[in-house]
Amino acid sequence: MFPIHRPRRLRTHPQLRRMVRETVLTTSDFIYPLFAVPGEGIANEVKSMPGVYQLSVDKIVEEAKEVYDLGIPAIILFGIPADKDVDATGAWHDCGIVQKAATAVKAAVPDLIVVVDTCLCEYTSHGHCGYLQVGDLTGRVLNDPTLELLKKTAVSQVNAGADIIAPSGMMDGFVQAIRQGLDEAGFQDTPILSYAAKYASAYYGPFRDAADSTPQFGDRRTYQMDPGNSREAIKEIELDIAEGADMLMVKPALAYMDIIWRVKEASNLPVAAYNVSGEYSMIKAAALNGWVDEERVVLETLTGFKRAGADLILTYHAKDAARWLK
Ligand code: PBG
Ligand code: ZN
Repeated sequence: MFPIHRPRRLRTHPQLRRMVRETVLTTSDFIYPLFAVPGEGIANEVKSMPGVYQLSVDKIVEEAKEVYDLGIPAIILFGIPADKDVDATGAWHDCGIVQKAATAVKAAVPDLIVVVDTCLCEYTSHGHCGYLQVGDLTGRVLNDPTLELLKKTAVSQVNAGADIIAPSGMMDGFVQAIRQGLDEAGFQDTPILSYAAKYASAYYGPFRDAADSTPQFGDRRTYQMDPGNSREAIKEIELDIAEGADMLMVKPALAYMDIIWRVKEASNLPVAAYNVSGEYSMIKAAALNGWVDEERVVLETLTGFKRAGADLILTYHAKDAARWLK
């Protein structure tokens, strides 16, 4: 007549709910993205990302201290160079902006893990993630010549102090090329966090404002994945594992929870989810309008990534979330 099974029994008290909770979000899960620009004393708020700033190296160091004091274990650095060219010189130059930032952060906060994004789109004059054929107006990046640039870039980033290399350009064979480059340079122990399943997404829009990396023509669909595909994500991660990736990333996160789950099931490596710029901006805009409760919506969203299988979450909400979790 009446239910024998009453799942509500375990929901009657907050302590009881805490005891049977399956997924617990912690500050140890977070990686906080930072954008380095040349100059001194600079903090430019990104219009489409309230609370996110382009920072000069001195300000990056202040921010890194704050991040570390909040208990966040890692940052990921992106650089916006003073000059851009077709060879992405700013990406692999020893005095490049991201190299300077990495060195300064490691000197000031040695125990903060510094991940560096290894891609070329912030540094090329056309905004694509590698070399183009002269005259190409579609953005079909030349794969193998670009691998050479990525190798050089990764080695210079580790020379500058990067603890983890995170290649994001979706070139075929990029994990193997970078692994080889790092090993040859004596950096056998530097892990690679591969952006293994990265989709051609409209959710990167605000990031491209922040990193000044919008392609001048064409789009990234000849290298980033089609949003309709999920078996292809498994193919991509299998290749990256075979090439020596230490950790795998799925990006974006919110519209790709199923991919996070599949990648987690298909591998034994730590899985990271990138809660990208557009996902941040949507919540931020709604919160600033008073339409949603920012704290609850952010924590619920981040918990969702973890429940889907993410071990690590790259998120612009990291500092706020760390405070709320205290
Ligand atoms: C560079 C890169 C991008 C992001 C991370 N690394 C942009 C892109 O691929 O266009 C996006 C991050 C975000 O939207 O927060 N390849
Ligand atoms: Zn890129």
